[in-house]
Amino acid sequence: MANHKVRLLLLLLVILLSIIFFIISEESLPENISWTAFSGYNRSRDGHLLNIGKLWGKTKVLIPSNNIKGNSVIRPQTTPAENPISLLFKKNFHKIPQWDFEDIYHQDAPPSLTTCPQSLRNSKDEDFQKAFLPNIRVFMHKDNFNIKDWNRLSHFNNPFGFMEMKYDDVLDAVKLIPKPTEPLLLPKPGGDGCVHCAVVGTGGILNGSKMGAEIDAHDYVFRVNGAAIKGYEEDVGNKTSVYVHTSFSITQSLYILKKYGYQSAPHDKGIKYVLIPEGMRDFQWLKALFKEGNYQNTNPRNYYSGQYNESRYYVLHQDFMRYVRNRFLKSDNLNKGFWDIVRPTNGAFAVFLALHSCDTVSAYGFMTEDYRKYSNYYVERHHKTNVIFYANHDYILEKNLWTSLHVRKILKLFMRTGS
Ligand SMILES: *[C@@H]1O[C@H](CO)[C@@H](O)[C@H](O)[C@H]1NC(C)=O
Ligand SMILES: *[C@@H]1O[C@H](CO)[C@@H](O)[C@H](O)[C@H]1NC(C)=O
Ligand SMILES: *[C@@H]1O[C@H](CO)[C@@H](O)[C@H](O)[C@H]1NC(C)=O
Ligand SMILES: *[C@@H]1O[C@H](CO)[C@@H](O)[C@H](O)[C@H]1NC(C)=O
Ligand SMILES: *[C@@H]1O[C@H](CO)[C@@H](O)[C@H](O)[C@H]1NC(C)=O
Repeated sequence: MANHKVRLLLLLLVILLSIIFFIISEESLPENISWTAFSGYNRSRDGHLLNIGKLWGKTKVLIPSNNIKGNSVIRPQTTPAENPISLLFKKNFHKIPQWDFEDIYHQDAPPSLTTCPQSLRNSKDEDFQKAFLPNIRVFMHKDNFNIKDWNRLSHFNNPFGFMEMKYDDVLDAVKLIPKPTEPLLLPKPGGDGCVHCAVVGTGGILNGSKMGAEIDAHDYVFRVNGAAIKGYEEDVGNKTSVYVHTSFSITQSLYILKKYGYQSAPHDKGIKYVLIPEGMRDFQWLKALFKEGNYQNTNPRNYYSGQYNESRYYVLHQDFMRYVRNRFLKSDNLNKGFWDIVRPTNGAFAVFLALHSCDTVSAYGFMTEDYRKYSNYYVERHHKTNVIFYANHDYILEKNLWTSLHVRKILKLFMRTGS
């Protein structure tokens, strides 16, 4: 009995300390970061040389290809550091540009105190430990955004940065994003000191799985995109703690899944919403959401069924998304002409959000080796459909990553062997 009380007190202390650390844990990038070399392929599509040079403190060089005549020497255009750099254009690169600061990210919180011995953070897997950044900055908000970051991140295409976007347009939205006051998730009092999470994808493997009760038994359940629940509870559960979406997925799912009975995004009491800012429209969405304004003639708040509360609303950081891509999901397609649309799926971002917010993660409804046996989506239960491979995602790479993380015991991937 006394022992139990001590454990409870310790847990509460850990929760309190986590919150305090979270609040005071803003770090900035090292001062000596400079956008120096561009070590990749640097010819624009029309064959002109692109000179993307140095940004040492107060100067920067950036020459749009249409200023370039033949092979003449290019005079650097300089701007004071406090101004946004001029726009870079995706069409000027026929594969992903490689900057020497490509793999440099903001990192925030000191290692979070975990009372969980089996936390994935304690994994002995060397490859994982090398790639995993426990303190990567996960969320963006009005207080961790500045012009220096803008200039750094403007070298990356969306959703990894702001290439082609206008500073004022993005700032208008970002200055409204409140700084989160607590970590996304905390250990449940009375639990075992671990944060146990389930991430539920939309894959056909869930149809007929009867995994609902097992999913709901986790401390927290993440869902993503068209997360149909009503009528599918037995297979997918009925609880949602974190809903990960884009402005596109939350609005379009209503149309696409209407015939499957989908009526609204998850809206459990106290649910946390996480937006993936995949493009300019998401910043417009955020602006309308926070100001209660209009986005394409609708009020974004209506899509959250009364559960919108800015204290529970989080927006993924560009560094986090780039880190996920660079270190875990670097598709060969990034070297192809359509590199600028290639990015991890929203489901993949949700899994990584869980890996950074939880001690244990189980993934349900994600692609497995035997994906051909199942429909594309679990809602497609009456007619078997095939998985659709859109060019913007590398599904096979993601499937292999889930399998590999499962084998290395970083997460538990739901699979159905046999049947
Ligand atoms: C920046 O400075 C840190 C510490 O002073 C050093 O370890 C690091 O190598 C430097 N990075 C670059 C890119 O110069
Ligand atoms: C990129 O341009 C620089 C000069 O601006 C040149 O030295 C380098 O060889 C070029 N790299 C490629 C891959 O074309
Ligand atoms: C979810 O399902 C459980 C039973 O599995 C039930 O007790 C609970 O009331 C359901 N919750 C909601 C919000 O429907
Ligand atoms: C939003 O959440 C906060 C903290 O839980 C609460 O104090 C506030 O009343 C909520 N606002 C609305 C509009 O529900
Ligand atoms: C979905 O699951 C049900 C129950 O197991 C099964 O009868 C049906 O054939 C499945 N649908 C597809 C498309 O696999």
